[in-house]
Amino acid sequence: MYKNKLARRVKQMENGELAGLMGLIDRDDIISFAGGIPDECIFPHEQLCEITESLFEKLGSKVFQYSSTEGNRELREYLVDFLAERGIKTSFDELIITTGSQQGLDLVSKIFIDPGDIVFTEKPGYVGGIGAIKSYEAELIGIDMESDGINVEQLETELKRCSFEGRKAKFIYLVPDYSNPSGIRLSLEKRIRILELAEEYDFYILEDTPYSELTYYHETIPYIKALDKNRRVILMGTFSKFFIPGLRVAWICAEKELIDVFSRAKQNADLASNSFGQFLLTEAGRRGLLDEQLQRVLPYYKERMEAMDRALNKYMPEEVSWFDVKGGFFYWLKLPSNVTGRELFRKAIERRVAFVTGNSFFPVDSDGDNYIRLSFSKTPVDDIDKGIERLAGLIRDF
Ligand SMILES: Cc1ncc(COP(=O)(O)O)c(C=O)c1O
Repeated sequence: MYKNKLARRVKQMENGELAGLMGLIDRDDIISFAGGIPDECIFPHEQLCEITESLFEKLGSKVFQYSSTEGNRELREYLVDFLAERGIKTSFDELIITTGSQQGLDLVSKIFIDPGDIVFTEKPGYVGGIGAIKSYEAELIGIDMESDGINVEQLETELKRCSFEGRKAKFIYLVPDYSNPSGIRLSLEKRIRILELAEEYDFYILEDTPYSELTYYHETIPYIKALDKNRRVILMGTFSKFFIPGLRVAWICAEKELIDVFSRAKQNADLASNSFGQFLLTEAGRRGLLDEQLQRVLPYYKERMEAMDRALNKYMPEEVSWFDVKGGFFYWLKLPSNVTGRELFRKAIERRVAFVTGNSFFPVDSDGDNYIRLSFSKTPVDDIDKGIERLAGLIRDF
């Protein structure tokens, strides 16, 4: 009965696959490369307890009050300094706190997309971004990933085609640093070229940066926002990956006029983000814990990344290929043409290894049949070796 009452956009939300896979994350008997999540074993638990107590002492019940829709001003001021250190000059009223950057993706899609509007995305690209954009019924055009980021010639060809048809894209969605799922970093040359194209063809760049801090070899490439002279970039950042995700606190940085529109949209969505989380993060920032934690997680995840790299090189058959990874959480594997991710997944679960099949990272599901995503962030080094050995064995069996 409910089915014929549902809105048309629900059809775009069919992707239950990921929810099913998320359920495997906590199973102790499985070596999981599935969730792209940080490892709670490295969370700064004791310091967070101390900060929590001090907040209760200092602020009392205020910690449970609503925050403003734009978010706690001190936290936004902290972010102004955080971004200044990364070459981005902004002010607190060009920032809005969101409930995870996942909400940022929803808000951007909500305020920009009318059904049928064109949006570009990485192919493969982040499933949650693709999901949010699709749910507002955009026409999503995927641009192929190369080892230094999206294929900008292909982007230009698509832009020309759209312009020939009298249509303009609203925005391009990019995860320029160590993207999910490909692990790829966008080169400086391509960042500059995409900004030029945005100016020429009049579209926004949505720069989503959850993995930007997780650079394991100190590679410095500026944020696209830091190169942006014409306010083409809407920047999103989050505490989820380099610090902790459970507070659900993230931010959008854009021109003030747009922040006002985001604020209106957010009022309709959830009024305000978690105020306790905002107080906690502000205090963690003030005490230097955010910087300290970043220094702790970098060698921790780097060791796992290198373990995965070693294991892939040691065990995988020649027909399997992947991009080089230097940051973030992921490896993206192309399987031999006779092996699909879904078939491999069924067998892998029997052998107690999990990963994410490639399909949901493509605007058109079937384009991802031969790919899988492996995350190394939550798997201890020994298990990485064992898990990859098992997977490689299964691929050989095909
Ligand atoms: C590229 C990308 N964007 C956004 C998110 C969502 O992050 P948050 O926890 O801030 O909502 C993720 C989480 O996996 C992600 O990989």
